[in-house]
Amino acid sequence: MSGAVAMSTCASAGAAGPDEDGARALRRALGRYPTGVTIVTTRSADGRAVGLTVNSFASLSLAPPLLLWSLANRSPNLRAFRGATHFAIHVLAAGQEALARRFADPRVADKFDGVALRRDGAVEAVPLIEGAIAGFVCASRDAIEAGDHTLFIGRVEQHWSDDGAPLVFHGGGFGRIATEAHHG
Ligand SMILES: Cc1cc2nc3c(=O)[nH]c(=O)nc-3n(C[C@H](O)[C@H](O)[C@H](O)COP(=O)(O)O)c2cc1C
Repeated sequence: MSGAVAMSTCASAGAAGPDEDGARALRRALGRYPTGVTIVTTRSADGRAVGLTVNSFASLSLAPPLLLWSLANRSPNLRAFRGATHFAIHVLAAGQEALARRFADPRVADKFDGVALRRDGAVEAVPLIEGAIAGFVCASRDAIEAGDHTLFIGRVEQHWSDDGAPLVFHGGGFGRIATEAHHG
């Protein structure tokens, strides 16, 4: 690729962040980075199962085992996650796109309606979704407000993993890995 692609500057946008065009350009640039897709779940203080689709997930530390993800501060579920002792992160399989869309849709009243849950989800009754290719049950360790999101850091208490291709998010759309990655 040539060096002719125009450079956008965020620094001039001030503390409030970029304007509408600037925000679109920033989202487009961020969207070039492919990610997996997860669903993060917890249980609210009043016993409700809570969950949403998340691609801000990343591993943070191996010893101790720490993970992170971030939640928009305007989420109606911010209070539930801030108050919870535990949450679970599910890495979705390539065949779970419909589930990813369901858990990203604020119009769905009960996202868990008809969703199969694992029966071994005993840790603080955090709901565990069936069919994910990996899962991490975490004790919530930190919740740090940063800009318009809150960064959650969890310590892994339980995890599982399974074979199978991951669901991928890239350029604003869902996809799959075309060829299996080569290892070492
Ligand atoms: C692929 C994908 C990744 C997403 N990642 C995040 C994320 O990391 N953090 C976040 O707050 N919302 C993220 N969202 C948006 C939420 O899933 C969406 O706003 C959802 O409705 C939030 O649920 P709630 O309104 O019940 O909190 C993502 C959506 C999609 C489709």
